[in-house]
Amino acid sequence: MKKTYYLTTPIYYPSGNLHIGHTYTTVAADSIKRYKKLQGYDVFFTTGSDEHGQKIQEKAQENNMSPKAYVDKIVADTKELWKMLEIDYDSFIRSTDDFHEKAIADIFTKLYEKGEIYKGHYEGAYCTPCESFWSESQLLEGNKCPDCGRETHIEKEEAYFFKLSKYRDKLLKYYEDNPGFIQPESRKNEMINNFLKDGLDDLSVSRSSFDWGVKVPFDEKHIIYVWIDALSCYLTSIGYGTENTENFEKFWPADVHLVGKEIVRFHTIIWPAILMALDLPLPKKVFGHGWILFEDDKMSKSKGNIIYPEPIIDLYGIDAFKYFLLREFSFGQDGSFSREKFLQRLNSDLANDLGNLVSRTVSMVEKYNDGILPSPKKTEEIDDTLVQMATGAADKVDAYMDNLNFSNALEEVWKLIRRTNKYVDETMPWILGKEGNSERLDTVLYNLSESLRIVSILIKPFMDKTSAEIRRQLGIEEEIVWDNAKQWGLLKEGSKVQKGNIIFPRLDIKEELVKLNAANNALIEKRTAAKEVPKVEVKKVEAVEEKKEEEMITIDDFAKVKFKVAKVVACKEHPKADKLLVLTLKVGDEERQVVSGIKQWYSTEDLVGKTVIVVANLKPVKLRGIESRGMVLAAEDADGNLTLLSTLEDIADGAIVS
Ligand code: MSP
Repeated sequence: MKKTYYLTTPIYYPSGNLHIGHTYTTVAADSIKRYKKLQGYDVFFTTGSDEHGQKIQEKAQENNMSPKAYVDKIVADTKELWKMLEIDYDSFIRSTDDFHEKAIADIFTKLYEKGEIYKGHYEGAYCTPCESFWSESQLLEGNKCPDCGRETHIEKEEAYFFKLSKYRDKLLKYYEDNPGFIQPESRKNEMINNFLKDGLDDLSVSRSSFDWGVKVPFDEKHIIYVWIDALSCYLTSIGYGTENTENFEKFWPADVHLVGKEIVRFHTIIWPAILMALDLPLPKKVFGHGWILFEDDKMSKSKGNIIYPEPIIDLYGIDAFKYFLLREFSFGQDGSFSREKFLQRLNSDLANDLGNLVSRTVSMVEKYNDGILPSPKKTEEIDDTLVQMATGAADKVDAYMDNLNFSNALEEVWKLIRRTNKYVDETMPWILGKEGNSERLDTVLYNLSESLRIVSILIKPFMDKTSAEIRRQLGIEEEIVWDNAKQWGLLKEGSKVQKGNIIFPRLDIKEELVKLNAANNALIEKRTAAKEVPKVEVKKVEAVEEKKEEEMITIDDFAKVKFKVAKVVACKEHPKADKLLVLTLKVGDEERQVVSGIKQWYSTEDLVGKTVIVVANLKPVKLRGIESRGMVLAAEDADGNLTLLSTLEDIADGAIVS
C-alpha cells in the first residue's frame, strides 16, 4: 500500500479577492503535493474558504448583498485563480457546504454531550475583524487588539465555552513528545511563552450578536464560533462526520497544516485541544510561515498596496511567479515583495541561468550533431565534478524539502544549473568542434543534456510547465521518476532534440515595471469600482431565473418580514467605514439607528426629511462597531445605479408596508 500524505492550507476568508500573500501558501502547498507524489505518496490536499462570521456578514451588507451571494462571487474568483495557477488541490471545502454545516453541528453537540462545552457568560474586549475576545493582559495600549492592532470594544453575551483550560498540560506534553509539531521552532517558543506558560482560559465558542453561521443545534440563538467551524473543515473535507469516511480513515491525521504566523495559535493550541476532546489523533505538524510584505509594509486595501497575482501571471506565466515566491522568501520568515526583485530574478535565474543553458545545449546538439543526441565517449576529470553535483542534488533537495525549506531546495538546483553553465565555458565545445575532437565534443554534449534531464526532474514540483518544455526540447520521453535524478547516464543517446522558443526571454526591467504597475493598478481599480464583486453575468442571471421555481416563498414567509415607512431625521458618515452611512429613522413613536451601505450614492445632506422603507424586524447587528437596527430598502440596476425605495404619496411614518 502507498504511503499517504495529507496537507492543508488555511481556508481563506472570502472577504475580498485573494492577493499574493494567500497565493504564497497555496503555491507552497501545491509544490509539496507534487513533490510527495513524485516520491510515490498518495497525497490529499485541502484548501477552501471560510465563509461564516460577522466580518463576512458586514462586508456583504456594506455591498448590499446577501452573505451567500457575496461569498459565491469571491469564491468563484478564487477558484479561477487556482485554476490559472494549476493548483492541484483535491478538496476545495466551503464552510457553507451542507455536509460541513451538518458535521460541524454534530461535532458541537458531541462536545457538549461529553461535557467539553458548557454554557456561561462572556464579557470582554472584542475585536470584530479578528472575531476574537481578548483578556486585559493581552490587549495592547489603548485597548487595541494584539493581533491586528485595531480598536476593540466591550461585548457581553451569553455564550458556550470550551474547556480549553484543562488541556494546557496535555498540550505542553504533546509539544515535548513531538518536537517537530510546531515549525519553525521559534513559533513553538512563542506559543509556550505567550499563551501556555501562564495557563489557558476556557474559550468562548458561540456568538449571538449576528446570525451568519452554523446554529448551535440545541440552542438556535447561538452561532458556532467561526474558528471551530473553520478548523473542522480539515476533518470534514476528508469526510469526517459525513456518510463517506473513507478518506478520513485513510488520511487523518494531517501530515502538515500550512498556516500564516498570526494563526499559529489557533492551530497549535485550540485545534489540538478540540481534537483531544473529540478523541482524535493530532496533526503531525503545523508550519507557521512568514508574511509577504510590500516593500517592507503590510499589504492592505486602504494603503492601496495590494499585489494581486493575476497581472503577474498574465505577463510572465505561472512558473516564473511560482519560482519567485518559493525561491525569494524564506518560508518561516517575513519577506518583502518588490516588482524589481521579481524582474531581476526572472532575468538572472530564469533567463540567464536556466533559459540560456537550455538554448545553448539544444543549439549545440543541433549544430554539431544534426540534432541527434550523441553517446558519451571520452570522459575527463572535470566531468566528475559535474556528475557528482548533478547526482547529489536530489538528496540535498530532499533534505531541504523535509523542512519545507523551498528556497534552499531551489538554490541547490540552481547551483547545479550554474555549474553546468560553467562546464560549457570550461570545456568550450566550439573549440572542440573547430578542432574536430568529436569524441570529446559528443561527451560534453551528452553531459550537458544529461544534467538538464536531472534538472527537469528536480524542478518538476515547482515548475511543471518548464520541466515539460525542457524535456520536450531535449526529446526525453521517459516518465519522470524522482530517484532517476540520482543516477547519471539514463538519457538515451540517439534521441532527437527540438529547438523551441526561448523558455525565459530576458526583459527590460524598466519597461516591465511600468507594465506590471499599470496592470496591477487597473485590477485594483476594477475590483474597487465593482465593490470587489463584479456584476453577475447575464448567463448566471438566467441560471438564477431557472432556479426561482424552487426558491418560491409562501405568503407566510413573506409575512415574517415587517416592512414599515420611516422618515430620515438625521444622517452622518460612519467614522470607520468608507461605504456606510448611519441613518436615524423615525418609525412611528420609535426612533432607531440603521447603518446602510449607500454612501457611494447619497451624501449625508441628501436624505434628511426623506421617506424610506425599513425592514423593521431584522435582528440588530453591529457594523464596524455601530449598531444597526433594521435595513432600508433600495433598488439597484445592472449598471450599479442605486435608489432608495419610498412611497408614491406622503404617508405617516410607522405605516405598515405589505
Ligand atoms: N479564515 C482564516 C483561516 C482559517 S483556517 C482553519 C484566515 N483567513 S485569512 O484569509 O485571513 O488568511 C489566510 C491565510 O493567508 C493566513 O495563513 C494568513 O497568514 C495568510 N496571509 C494573508 N496575508 C498574507 C501575507 N501578506 N503574506 C503571507 N501570508 C498571508 O485567517
